[in-house]
Amino acid sequence: MTFRKALVVAAVALSAACGPKDTSIKIAVAVPLTGDMGTEGQGLRRAVELAVEEANASGRFPYKLVAAPYDDRADPKEAVNVANLIASDPRVVAVVGHYNSGCAISAAKVYARAPVAMVSPAATNPEVTAQQNSADWAGPRMVFRVVPTDDVQGSYAATFASKKLGKKRMALLHDKTAYGQGLAEQFKKTFLEQGGKIVSEDGISVGDKDFKALLTKIKNDPSKAEGIYFGGLYTEAGLLLKQMRELALKHPFAFISGDGSMTFGLFDVAGDAADGAYLSIVGVPADELASAKKFVEDYKARFPNDERKPFDHFGYEAANIIMAAMERAGGPDRVKVIEELRKTKHQGVLGTTVFDDKGDTTSKIVTMTRAVAKKRAFDSVR
Ligand code: ALA
Repeated sequence: MTFRKALVVAAVALSAACGPKDTSIKIAVAVPLTGDMGTEGQGLRRAVELAVEEANASGRFPYKLVAAPYDDRADPKEAVNVANLIASDPRVVAVVGHYNSGCAISAAKVYARAPVAMVSPAATNPEVTAQQNSADWAGPRMVFRVVPTDDVQGSYAATFASKKLGKKRMALLHDKTAYGQGLAEQFKKTFLEQGGKIVSEDGISVGDKDFKALLTKIKNDPSKAEGIYFGGLYTEAGLLLKQMRELALKHPFAFISGDGSMTFGLFDVAGDAADGAYLSIVGVPADELASAKKFVEDYKARFPNDERKPFDHFGYEAANIIMAAMERAGGPDRVKVIEELRKTKHQGVLGTTVFDDKGDTTSKIVTMTRAVAKKRAFDSVR
C-alpha cells in the first residue's frame, strides 16, 4: 500500500469511528430466518419492516425506528443466544417474536431478566405466557401474544374431527417439540372427552424424512384409524402427506394438523398430495379480514415479489401494538413500554386486541382450512 493510500484508509476508518452516532431505536424481530422455517420468519420480518416504515413516514416518533432481524433458526438454544444479544442492546425497546413455541418459552426467560417486552406473533403453546405466573419467574410479566393458544386450537380440531368429519378413531402423531406435542395432547384431550378413541400415539423428530414404516403400521393396525392428527411443522407434514398417498391412505382417511403446518411450503413439499388435508390456523386468515384489507394491499405493493405468509398480519399487528405502547409511554423506555403493553386496547388489522392477565389475546378464534394444491391455497371450512 502506498503512503497516500494508507492515509486515505486511515481517514475513512477514523471518520467511521467518529461519525454521527446512530440514535435509531430498534424493534427486534426474533424469528427463524434460515432453514425450513425461515420462509415464515422472513415473512414476519417483512411485515414488521412494513409497520416500522409506515410509522417512520408518519412522523409519529421524534426518532427513527428500525426493525432489527435476529435468526433463532427455530432452535430453542439459539433463541437463548439471540435473546441475550437483544437484551444487552439498550437500543432495542421490545421484541416481536418468537415464531416457535420452544424458542419463545426459552427466550422469554432471558427477556424477563432484562426486562424487555416480547410480543409473539405465532407461538401458541399455553406455556409461553403461563410460565410468567410461576413463583420462580425472574422478572416482571412481559410476555404477550396476539394469537390464540393451542388449548383452543387443539380442542377446536378435535371437535371438528368428531362432529364435522364424524371420526371415531384417530392416530396421533407429533414432532416432540413444545408446540407439536402440546397441540397433539390438546387434540387428544378433547377427542377423548367427545367419546373418540386415540388408537396409537407416536413421536417423530424434526428433520425425519422417511415415515413409511410408521404409516404402514398405522394402516395395518387392526384398530383401523380413520385419520391422523399431526402436531408439528409443514416440512414433516408435507412428507407425511406424500408418503400417506403413496401407501393409498387417501380420502376418507383424514389428515388434520395445525398452524405450524398451514403454510405454502406444504405445497412445495407435498405437491398434489397436500390436497384435502385439514389445517387449522389460529385467528382468521388476512384475506378474510376486512380490517386487514389495507395491510394486504400495502404488503403486496411493498413486497411485490414475495408471498405473504399466514402469520404476517400477526407480525404487523405485534409491531403496531408495541409502537402504540411506546407512544403512550412517551418514549422508548423498556419498562414503561411493558406497563403500557398491559393496558393495550388496540384497534388494528386483527380487529380489537386486548391482553388478559396472562398476556394472551382475549380473541379465541380458530379457523379450519382445507388445502387445495392446484390453487396453492387453504380454503376456509365453515
Ligand atoms: N404456533 C407454532 C408454534 O407455536 C408456530 O410453534
